[in-house]
Amino acid sequence: MIKGYDIDLGGMNTFRMKVACRCFVEYESVEELKAVLADSSLPRPFFPLGGGSNLLFTKDYPGTVLHCGMKTIRDLGSGRVYADAGVVWDDFCAWCASKGLWGPENLSYIPGEVGASAVQNIGAYGREAGELIESVSCVEAGTGSEVVIPAGDCEYAYRDSRFKHDWKGRYFVTGVTFRLSEEPKPELDYGHVREAVKEKFGTDDPAILTPAMIREVVTDIRKSKLPEVTELGSAGSFFRNPYVDGKILEAIRNKAQEENLGVVPSFTIGDDCFKVPAAWLIDKCGWKGKELGGAAVFEKQPLVLVNKSGETSPEEIIALEKAIKDSVLDKFGVTLEKEVEYV
Ligand code: EPU
Repeated sequence: MIKGYDIDLGGMNTFRMKVACRCFVEYESVEELKAVLADSSLPRPFFPLGGGSNLLFTKDYPGTVLHCGMKTIRDLGSGRVYADAGVVWDDFCAWCASKGLWGPENLSYIPGEVGASAVQNIGAYGREAGELIESVSCVEAGTGSEVVIPAGDCEYAYRDSRFKHDWKGRYFVTGVTFRLSEEPKPELDYGHVREAVKEKFGTDDPAILTPAMIREVVTDIRKSKLPEVTELGSAGSFFRNPYVDGKILEAIRNKAQEENLGVVPSFTIGDDCFKVPAAWLIDKCGWKGKELGGAAVFEKQPLVLVNKSGETSPEEIIALEKAIKDSVLDKFGVTLEKEVEYV
């Protein structure tokens, strides 16, 4: 077990916020986690930290930050795979692709760790982690007991699960069991994935494609659109893509026509429910590449806010978030919601 007090978290969050926590513990086994949760000498509250890639530390953390140091992947056979919560997500994707297992390839190169994938239901290019998960292994904080929660109980939805709501603080994820496919199962219908696959490999025939090929293409796309967190601090998409009703979509279309903004991209989600890309709304408010204090809107993908100066404070990120939200609400009547968690 690694344990320390007044630890700098600057290298443990991809936004590179220079904050500290009162106590930091990295546990190496489920037994160690249980002992930590039962240790009354450790400062409360406890916060489970994964790769720190979807959060903004707004200030020093007064309690104990817990990190899972377990990093084993186990092949359970017939496409079932167990991965410890501390496995780097992209290492898991690489492992599955190397075994020819289908499922996580579209989620390649997403920063973060396996434990967080089950909490956040990470998604990209037409796949979500929740679709691949069979069960989530946890320790219940209050009782210290080990529980295996079936995916069906987790209420997976767009970037959402019960771990973010009624189960917040109740369960600490220690590992995830995935049910993957040994049969070809390419998902190419999101955005330009199919075109990119054809261009790179000359075919989109599922009998020829491998998960490793799709992984390569998705990794290329992400590298071309999103900042490398090792070079420019960010937390990926800062905002969720908003769902609007037909009336609001019509109002957005009218505004776009009035101001010559082009065709409004939209996707039907359900009855009178449409997704409009937040990137488009922010872009059309003129935010691309704009800076405010040390914070900025990434020039290639306006959904992403970046720590441009390298020294950006949480307040500067929050000020930029507010300015963007105000202008999108003012122009299009849509209230953007952040995807990033404030801690
Ligand atoms: N667009 C613009 N201007 C731009 C960029 C995009 O108008 O500069 C418009 C285009 O119409 C484009 C649309 O926005 O078609 C959507 O853009 P893109 O596909 O790049 O982003 P997204 O689909 O909204 C989501 C996820 C990403 C994920 C991609 C691929 C959210 C909030 N974001 O973005 O997730 O990688 O789909 O599936 O759902 C993340 O969570 O950190 C993340 C990067």
